[in-house]
Amino acid sequence: MKIITEVLTETVSAAFEKAGYDKALGMVGISDRLDLCQFQCNGAFAGAKAYRKAPFVIAEEVTEILKENPIFGDVHWVKPGFINMTLSDEYMVKIMKEIAAEGRGGAPEVSNPRKIVMDYGGPNVAKSLHIGHLRSAIIGESVKRLARALGHEVIADVHLGDWGLQIGLVIAELSERFPGEKCFGEDFDPEKDSVPELTVDMLGEIYPTASAKSKTDEEFSKKAHLATHELQRGRAGYTALWREILRVSVSDLKNNYSHLGVDFDYWYGESDADKYIPELLEILQSKGLSRESEGALIADVAEEDDKAPMPPVIVQKSDRSSTYATTDLGTIIQRERDFAPDEICYVVDNRQELHLTQVFRLSRKAGLVPDETKLTILGFGTINGSDGKPYKTRDGGVMRLSDLINTVTEASLTRLADSEKVAADDREEYAQKLGMAAIKFGDLINHRSKDYIFDLDKFLSAEGKTGIYLLYTVSRINSVLKKAGDAPRELHGLYTDSDREVALAIITAGEAYAGAMREYAPNIICENAYKTAVAYSRFYHENRIIDEPDPERRASWLALSELVREVLTKQLYVLGIETVENM
Ligand code: ARG
Repeated sequence: MKIITEVLTETVSAAFEKAGYDKALGMVGISDRLDLCQFQCNGAFAGAKAYRKAPFVIAEEVTEILKENPIFGDVHWVKPGFINMTLSDEYMVKIMKEIAAEGRGGAPEVSNPRKIVMDYGGPNVAKSLHIGHLRSAIIGESVKRLARALGHEVIADVHLGDWGLQIGLVIAELSERFPGEKCFGEDFDPEKDSVPELTVDMLGEIYPTASAKSKTDEEFSKKAHLATHELQRGRAGYTALWREILRVSVSDLKNNYSHLGVDFDYWYGESDADKYIPELLEILQSKGLSRESEGALIADVAEEDDKAPMPPVIVQKSDRSSTYATTDLGTIIQRERDFAPDEICYVVDNRQELHLTQVFRLSRKAGLVPDETKLTILGFGTINGSDGKPYKTRDGGVMRLSDLINTVTEASLTRLADSEKVAADDREEYAQKLGMAAIKFGDLINHRSKDYIFDLDKFLSAEGKTGIYLLYTVSRINSVLKKAGDAPRELHGLYTDSDREVALAIITAGEAYAGAMREYAPNIICENAYKTAVAYSRFYHENRIIDEPDPERRASWLALSELVREVLTKQLYVLGIETVENM
């Protein structure tokens, strides 16, 4: 199914050509004045300059040709030279039938599917997920689902932070608590010896303690750095302990992500890049890209026209350990080798932009990926509290993701407490789904690069641009269709302004998908879903769907309702939001 504005652009371009003008003038867009028309073409203005004619003269000639086309219910030109178009009811019905038959919920299929590696989530082993990780997970999952909905191949990799100082800190702390354990000795034998068994709760306590200690205790800090370094060089006891930390932490993370409805194909970590590092250093050296500086190896990536300072990349520290940049470069080699993707997208906090820009530049210089492989940063802003500062817990600490989710679920549960529609047994499950919908929609409605304020009351409101409003609309359609039972559902025609508006929303959903994909902007899907829901609500209030006496109308309206549900459900799915039956 082609996107409607593409179909119309072809039609209008052909008319420009037939009238003797350049067909490139026939670009059609959705009108922002629905009271005047559904679609608009402004090509006559550009034509006016090229052909030295008044724009309306051109618009008039093109309009005359378009008038013969039955896809339009109305085409007219208005001064100074706009061409305004509205589709005929028959054509809208035809397209809606095609959308329904395709079963893609209005998502178009791309003609050039690409292979995209998505790097999102980015949790750090041994640390608990905090609210900063929420956006990467929500946005990344949505972009993944969006790309897949259009037919792209997406490989999702969580890119665990499992190779950095946080592990050294935990090892150092454990070595003080369990000094007698074999894993801290030089003669640890992985075949025979075991390591202390850890739990999530232990890790949850040990890491913050160790991290705080390292800030005041220099000796301890040195110990942690040394442990990190020795782990990276393969010290047996530390490797075994690292495996134990990973075992506990990863199963907890998987649990957390599954609650969020976020899912990865690969659970590779920074540590998996380790085996590519010798090769990386070799390439950099042989191409003359790295040099020594104060015992470390660095690579310059500054360019002449840089407006801001672009520091060199540290590829190896003076103690020969790797850096965050090294693991990202090694990971690029791994991804190229394993997947040969057309693009790698990183969903990261805006503050990581400099880091990734350095990494990308060095990858290009070193030829780690072919020139045509795109490397993309999808940067996101901060989640703030009502004071405009990063969202914190009541006592000013970093908000843990699980606490946030609990808070939101509790709040939804309170709202459901006296619901007539949701049975007491279902309330817990509903509260979780509503909570997730509130959080995810509240996040995704903002352009990802912007900061936003976490406003629970607003997110949980059943009115306005919220996930709850959308779930509510779907649930309303569920009950309409349920009440209608097995009454016939078939699109015959359109009858009122309000059903036409719903039809237009359905027909233009494809446009939103294409735009959202082009800009990696799920907020475009949010806006479109909201627009569709508003149109449906108006239609619902202005008509008596089930009690409509005319059988053709009733069948059409039931089919229209069903199609709206399909389109909305698909869009919500792309946003990572599950619907509920009845609320
Ligand atoms: N673990 C990192 C953090 O918590 C995010 C990783 C982002 N991805 C990457 N390839 N660098 O900040």
